[in-house]
Formats: sequence, C-alpha cells, structure tokens
Amino acid sequence: MPNYVFLGPPGAGKGTLGAMLCETYGNIHVSTGDILRAELASGSALGREVAECMEGGGLVSDELVAKLVRKRLGREDIAAAGFLLDGFPRTVPQAEALDALLAEVGLSLDRAVLFEVDQELLFKRMAGRRLCPACGAIYNTFFMPPRQAGFCDACPGTALVTRKDDNPETVRNRLAVYQEQTAPLIGHYAKKGLLTRVDGTPPKEETFAVLQAALGI
Ligand code: AP5
Repeated sequence: MPNYVFLGPPGAGKGTLGAMLCETYGNIHVSTGDILRAELASGSALGREVAECMEGGGLVSDELVAKLVRKRLGREDIAAAGFLLDGFPRTVPQAEALDALLAEVGLSLDRAVLFEVDQELLFKRMAGRRLCPACGAIYNTFFMPPRQAGFCDACPGTALVTRKDDNPETVRNRLAVYQEQTAPLIGHYAKKGLLTRVDGTPPKEETFAVLQAALGI
C-alpha cells in the first residue's frame, strides 16, 4: 500500500480526511498530535513535559516527535498496510529525520498531500471543532454537527470535548508557527516531486473525492 504524508495548516482537515482515507484503504493513521494528546491525558512524564508547549500552540522538540514516529513506523504492520502521517513532519529537520528513518526501515514515501484552506475558514473550523474522547471522532458545530448536540453519534451518552488549543489566541499562534516552521516543507516535497495540492475548502465528502482522484486511488 502507498505511504502518505498529510500537510497543511491547523484546521485544514488532515485528521478528518486522514480518518476517511484509512477507513477506506486500510492505511495506518499516525497522528503525532493524537499520540501527544494521549500522553497528556494519561498524565505520563512525557505528557507533563509537552503540556505547556502544546497548550500554547508551540511545537514540541524535533527529537521527541521523531522518536515517537520511529517507534510507530518500526512496527511490522506498517509495511503491508501503508502509513499516513498526519502532523509529521512539521519542520525541515523532522522531514530530514523522516527521510533517514524510511531509508533505515526500507520504506519510501509515495505522496505528500497539502490541504489548502483560507485563514477565515480555518478559524471557524477550530472554533467549532468537538471531539469524542472515547472513539476520537471529529465533529464541527458549524459544518458537521452530531445528531444530538454535544454527544457522539457512535458512543451513546459520551459528551464531546473541545481541544484546549482551539481558543482564538492559541489558534493565532499555531497559524504563525505553521507559516514559519511548517510551510517550508512545501518546497521540500515539491523539489522531490512528491507534492500534491488539494483544495480543502469544500465539505469533507467532496474533498475526499478530489483527494482520491489526485492520488489515483
Ligand atoms: P495536531 O493535532 O497535529 O494539530 P494541528 O496540525 O494544529 O492540526 P489540527 O488537528 O488542528 O488540524 P487538522 O488539519 O487535523 O483538522 P481537522 O481534520 O481536525 O497537533 C497539536 C499540537 O501537537 C501542535 O500544536 C504541537 O504542539 C504538537 N505537535 C503535533 N505534531 C507535532 C510535530 N510533528 N512536531 C512538533 N509538535 C507537534 O479539522 C478541523 C475542524 O474542521 C474539525 O471540526 C472538522 O470537523 C472540520 N473540517 C475538516 N475538514 C472539513 C471539511 N472538508 N469540510 C468541513 N469541515 C471540515
């Protein structure tokens, strides 16, 4: 199965479209944000170490995330299923670490997909985002509301939660960090001939169809 990296600003739909692609094709969804949030929720030493940085919208260290990704990509199931990296790499050193890691484990990257969405819509998507703490489903109060307001469709009685880093001030910081540290990766993957741009503005079903056509799957 092909291996993918999903790039794009916070709120562009990497997690949403990533879940759809993995459900349809069986790729393994590796989201560094989800891994770090799980550490934070568990109260582990690692979670305590990254809490302040994540809640302020900054990036945790390249070494730490590279170590987490190395652990996940080293597992046996990856080669057969293919991976989808969501939220990694996020800096040029992380992209270089990924290139080295893939060479080491004998895997290669097939496509880096960039989801493009304008800033006004990104703010609305993050302000309206709600998550199910039990199954991880992502909703949006404006665009994809659950059937019963505030509760997960798939997990009866489970109240949806808001991410701590989705408040306006932190969102502004996350977007600035994206421009400064992650946007240079667009050139990195374009130079390698691996970049595919997808307009992430339309509703998710429409965006997914465009993504499938762009990837030829
Ligand atoms: P992470 O979890 O990766 O956050 P992010 O990149 O800021 O991405 P988001 O999850 O906000 O955006 P998304 O593109 O996945 O959007 P989503 O699909 O949810 O990282 C969080 C933090 O962890 C970072 O700030 C950093 O501190 C740390 N971190 C993580 N990785 C790191 C790394 N590699 N290095 C260093 N630090 C790292 O969609 C958003 C909303 O829009 C949802 O409500 C959704 O329902 C809605 N929506 C999405 N698509 C559509 C659509 N097509 N139509 C309508 N609504 C849509």
